[in-house]
Amino acid sequence: MKNKTVFVTGAAGFIGSVLTRELLSAGEGIHVVGLDSMNDYYDVSIKEYRLRLIDELAGGKTDAKWTFIKGNLADKALIDDIFARYKPSVVVNLAAQAGVRYSITNPDVYIESNIIGFYNILEACRHSYDNGEAGVEHLVYASSSSVYGVNKKIPYSTDDKVDNPVSLYAATKKSNELMAHAYSKLYDIPSTGLRFFTVYGPAGRPDMAYFGFTDKLLRGEKIQIFNYGNCKRDFTYVDDIVEGVKRVIEAPPKRTVGEDGLPVPPYAVYNIGNNSPENLLDFVEVLSEELVRAGVLPEDFDFDSRKELVPMQAGDVPVTYADTSALERDFGFKPSTSLRDGLRRFAEWYKEFYM
Ligand SMILES: NC(=O)c1ccc[n+]([C@@H]2O[C@H](COP(=O)([O-])OP(=O)(O)OC[C@H]3O[C@@H](n4cnc5c(N)ncnc54)[C@H](O)[C@@H]3O)[C@@H](O)[C@H]2O)c1
Repeated sequence: MKNKTVFVTGAAGFIGSVLTRELLSAGEGIHVVGLDSMNDYYDVSIKEYRLRLIDELAGGKTDAKWTFIKGNLADKALIDDIFARYKPSVVVNLAAQAGVRYSITNPDVYIESNIIGFYNILEACRHSYDNGEAGVEHLVYASSSSVYGVNKKIPYSTDDKVDNPVSLYAATKKSNELMAHAYSKLYDIPSTGLRFFTVYGPAGRPDMAYFGFTDKLLRGEKIQIFNYGNCKRDFTYVDDIVEGVKRVIEAPPKRTVGEDGLPVPPYAVYNIGNNSPENLLDFVEVLSEELVRAGVLPEDFDFDSRKELVPMQAGDVPVTYADTSALERDFGFKPSTSLRDGLRRFAEWYKEFYM
């Protein structure tokens, strides 16, 4: 990544901020240009906190440069201007409206950020080659395990057919993969989509279950465990996700020409998940133990009386389980952080941030 300019969208987001810090830490003349709208889908103070961590790191580095732009991915003129001004050679698109349940009540914002926003990125990548410029060497973008819908076959493989999304969020993510394929084919843009599986960790997203459970337990409220606890999730620690993204960034799919003399799309999609699904009940049990250990909850906390087993919610799926063999084969990497270690770091961060 030496002397490269990397454009990271969603840089104040959970995954984007950790990735940005990792890239800046590497130094070597890297310039990270970050974009984020700082929208209030969840507590903006966490986004500001993440930006402060980036600023602190960048302030102490002389061999890396950090530029932050507050703006909307759906603003085409802004995106074009950023590409013209900074000429990124790597683009990592993480900005999106996330969340399965919110897409049921607020569909508009999914179309704006995930479809129009992503289209703007593709168009800007396409025009980055205008006038013989070297342009974008690699577009990496976030997809999601939710594209698998209610896939019966486990573990979920990128070879599986994923044409049956069960939420608009999932449909936008699958659409991103289709749009990227078309643009890779038409304009020879090397692109890699990454299907992330339930990412958790310090300074994570307050709208996600582990974070919401923690808030509720602390307030003395009950927590609802869906599908009567018969849910399995491939929980993936954020540092593992970011390590995967970093390795992928450096190895764009190769540009080749097919028998018809036209480009074979330099296109790839990978799962990044833990490859070890955990039962939701076990997950919350470890979470509660780690919250007690970190001093977020008292020693005598009666966890059992706070659990409420409820039916499945619309848009949800009973299991997610990543087949990560392709990631291992091509990048020699597999997430390895244990649930206990990951939740311990989350609980310790939560204590420091809120208490
Ligand atoms: N966290 C997970 O478990 C998970 C799982 C699968 C996929 N993903 C995907 O990974 C990516 C990053 O997720 P995250 O967990 O860090 O989410 P996040 O919400 O913390 O980060 C996304 C960031 O993008 C910004 N953003 C949203 N819409 C924008 C827009 N129109 N213009 C500019 N900025 C905008 C938000 O302000 C936010 O800071 C997303 O694309 C998400 O869909 C996340």
